[in-house]
Amino acid sequence: MSRFPAVRPRRLRRTPALRRLVAETHLVPAQLVLPLFVKEGAAEPVPIGSMPGQVQHSRDSLRRAVSDAAAAGIGGVMLFGVPAERDATGSTACRPEGILNVALADAVAEAGDALVVMGDLCLDEFTDHGHCGVLDDRPGRTGEVDNDATLEHYRAMAVAQAEAGAHLLGLSGMMDGQTAAVRDALDAAGHDHVALLAYAAKYASAFYGPFREAVDSQLTGDRRAYQLDPANRREGLREAVLDVEEGADVVMVKPAGSYLDVLADVAATSEVPVWAYQVSGEYAMIEAAAAQGWLDRRRTVAESVLAIRRAGADAILTYWALELAGWLREEI
Ligand code: PBG
Repeated sequence: MSRFPAVRPRRLRRTPALRRLVAETHLVPAQLVLPLFVKEGAAEPVPIGSMPGQVQHSRDSLRRAVSDAAAAGIGGVMLFGVPAERDATGSTACRPEGILNVALADAVAEAGDALVVMGDLCLDEFTDHGHCGVLDDRPGRTGEVDNDATLEHYRAMAVAQAEAGAHLLGLSGMMDGQTAAVRDALDAAGHDHVALLAYAAKYASAFYGPFREAVDSQLTGDRRAYQLDPANRREGLREAVLDVEEGADVVMVKPAGSYLDVLADVAATSEVPVWAYQVSGEYAMIEAAAAQGWLDRRRTVAESVLAIRRAGADAILTYWALELAGWLREEI
């Protein structure tokens, strides 16, 4: 036997040029989507304490953020509305003057075709109970989220967002049949050109914690009766398959970092693009540790997003999209 190792993988790791040439995964700004919050009636951006560096935008500051995102070459923005008033059915979600719909129109006017303008299609920001749908009052089901009644609201909300000019709608409510229902409503209203991103495998995750503050959520309790159980891998794949059958143009796995196995499963078989959402808690954890000096912020952020891409995401929703796009440009 030779004294020397026969195989030396280290050879290709020796210099930055070698490492760059053999890198299997690349990230570019066009693969990033920036989630943005817009607060009705806000005169100035309002900082979100649990998400340092992120804000609830005013309509003006939202326009600037969209313009910055376009200038940075980011693929798209995903808008979330924070309404001033809420009710049991989240009715302002479906009105043209509702905050999310006016913000979508603002974003489209600002960005034109420079990036993809997306709207979050879910009732939770708009309901006074904070659930993603309307509540049931039938005997034996009182207080549960009523799947099929909710679909009617999603249909109206989708048409309102399409009329505001949204290019793509993000279906994040986890109601059964929501993709088919929304597709049908859009097509019937002449919006067959508007694309659908199904949050296909959206887990009932503690990592959404900081998002509750970001949208002033009214929720008490949790969403385990409609979002996926974190214990289930096969079911994540099943949800993605169902959404594609229902007409989803893109499917998503959410959260990202703790669900890379599900992401890899979906990416291995999907016939449509697969995206992932690096959620508020993933953001907050790294920001908090970096603020303590316990993690190198830039390296950790870059690695966390690259890992999601490596696992199979074609694009990634991340609150670091703008900053990361800047770093990626420096590296070119
Ligand atoms: C629901 C929605 C949520 C998030 C995006 N859309 C909250 C939830 O399902 O509880 C979470 C995003 C994040 O945590 O960054 N409309």
